[in-house]
Amino acid sequence: MKHKIVVTGGLGFIGSHVVVELQNEGFEVVIIDDLSNSSEAVLKGITAITGIQPVFEKLDLRDKNLVIDFFKRHHDVMGVIHFAASKAVGESVNLPLLYYENNLNTLIYILQELHKKEAAHLIFSSSCTVYGQADVLPITESAPIKAAESPYGNTKQIGEEIISDTCKVSDNLKAIALRYFNPIGAHESAKIGELPIGTPQNLVPFITQTGKGLRAELSVFGNDYPTEDGTCVRDYIHVVDLAKAHVAALKRLIGGANADNYEVFNIGTGKGSSVLEVITAFEEVSNQKLNYKLVDRRAGDVVAAYADTTKANNVLGWKAKLNLKDALASAWKWEQSLK
Ligand code: UD1
Repeated sequence: MKHKIVVTGGLGFIGSHVVVELQNEGFEVVIIDDLSNSSEAVLKGITAITGIQPVFEKLDLRDKNLVIDFFKRHHDVMGVIHFAASKAVGESVNLPLLYYENNLNTLIYILQELHKKEAAHLIFSSSCTVYGQADVLPITESAPIKAAESPYGNTKQIGEEIISDTCKVSDNLKAIALRYFNPIGAHESAKIGELPIGTPQNLVPFITQTGKGLRAELSVFGNDYPTEDGTCVRDYIHVVDLAKAHVAALKRLIGGANADNYEVFNIGTGKGSSVLEVITAFEEVSNQKLNYKLVDRRAGDVVAAYADTTKANNVLGWKAKLNLKDALASAWKWEQSLK
């Protein structure tokens, strides 16, 4: 029998790629999404890739009674991969309560239902933002958690603590938090990808939209950082590699291979790239020059962050296979496929 897995936020950027990889690996997927930052059309893309239409329920996880009812109807759920959350850093500063409600209440309601089950497995989507500006690079999972720069970042830190505390008192619940570095790219089929609403806040969608002529130019935020070329350094991870890490984590839990009931893994490539290196790589894969200008630093940006992926490689048995150019080529193909 197929294991039934719930993917909350399964129509979003990362969620949709995870649904594809789960289906490819033989899992039965039920998607929950409130469509607040996604579109039902993503279902078509998933189905076109895998040939399997996942079950989809439009549901607002902030409504506790709806969550209780969902798990009653789907009593055979083996695990939950929880993406449903708000993710705009700047917006979270202005709307902190919305972020705490969206990102933490929903997590608590899901945990309350999983806690009731005989066996339950949870994968939580966390972020390298929990490390802030790490003192040592590359960043290992034992690097100290720094005070969050934004309510968004805080919801990731508190979310991890809520799960860790719950796992301590719940023998039946096992969980893994994956701390993503910078997810970019799209499925190679260009049938699913990132769909930013309005002006993209993240680097790669802004680059591809500029390459396509939808934006006049990219602003590079700061060129006086203490890095080789003065621009910030990040670890850009292909979303398909990232999606595969979720399947590896889920299999680890379901197979009972976990060392603790709550575990944390960094998910990145281990390689840092500067903003200018990303631009150059994009110019190469798109075979065109990109319009950009150097402007002041953006508030809240850390200088450099890239992962030590030793734990994910050795313990999870997962390693990123695709590189920056692969990811940018897929993001460019996706951008060009959009009307
Ligand atoms: C951001 C969030 C992080 C979140 C992640 C999700 C902040 C401070 N951090 O990471 O918490 O987990 O998104 O994907 O917002 N850049 C430009 N021009 C642009 C856009 C970005 O130069 O128009 C630069 C930034 O200064 C940064 C790099 O590109 O150096 C990457 O930026 P971005 O894609 O926004 O990701 P992060 O800021 O690393």
